[in-house]
Amino acid sequence: MTERHLKSLLGLEPSKWMMAPSERLAVLGLLQTIMPKKALEFGCADAGLTAWLSQYSDEVVTVDIDPKVLVLAQPFHNVTPLCMTTQEPADWAWSEGKHFDLAVIDADHSEAGVRRDLKNAMRFCDVIVFHDTYYPPCRKGILSALVGQDVYVDLDLIPGGMQPDGLWGGLGIVITDLPRIIDMHVMLRLSLYPWLRKLWLLDQYRHQVEHLARVFRLKIRQLMRRGKAISRRED
Ligand SMILES: C[S@@+](CC[C@H](N)C(=O)[O-])C[C@H]1O[C@@H](n2cnc3c(N)ncnc32)[C@H](O)[C@@H]1O
Repeated sequence: MTERHLKSLLGLEPSKWMMAPSERLAVLGLLQTIMPKKALEFGCADAGLTAWLSQYSDEVVTVDIDPKVLVLAQPFHNVTPLCMTTQEPADWAWSEGKHFDLAVIDADHSEAGVRRDLKNAMRFCDVIVFHDTYYPPCRKGILSALVGQDVYVDLDLIPGGMQPDGLWGGLGIVITDLPRIIDMHVMLRLSLYPWLRKLWLLDQYRHQVEHLARVFRLKIRQLMRRGKAISRRED
């Protein structure tokens, strides 16, 4: 790895990979450990992660609804880009009996979208990594996809946090061929997610109240102007 790579991973140089430095380093650690034969990426964006998936995997399939995925994947000989929603390749992979060693889910961030992507990936992927586990709709979608599943889960592999634009980030992992309850040989830490979610909710209410107050002030000003115009006409 060059000094330039390290600088860009640490955020000291611009990077097309839309994850925090700790998340990038964790994904690279996993890639080096798993060395996937086949990797699947849901959400290519600017191909920042795709480049690393290409380097560590034999074959990569990357999916994005944005047509730029077809251009951005061109430099990578072992990457197949698909410009479509994530549901289509999931149906194809399942019906064709395909299997992936690793999947990275970072596409549709709605609760329903994340639930669908994770449910699909659990059918044909061994290790699943997902981004934005601290974004409340994503977290909800992940948790609902995991109901009744006996798989190893850590939604706080790398915790997310409050950012100026809300509660984002966090890297989670699911390993489908390990049971949910397994002996741990590390000290477990309390997740800060429930507290941060309360802060996030307060912030959402504050925005709504500020918006309502702005609308209310505008309406009062309009009413006063109208009242003045009527009284001028009556004079
Ligand atoms: C946050 S970005 C992915 C970032 C990328 N994983 C990285 O770390 O650099 C999310 C991407 O998912 C794509 N996307 C959103 N919904 C999608 C869907 N239903 N199917 C496929 N791609 C989707 C968007 O076009 C966007 O490029």
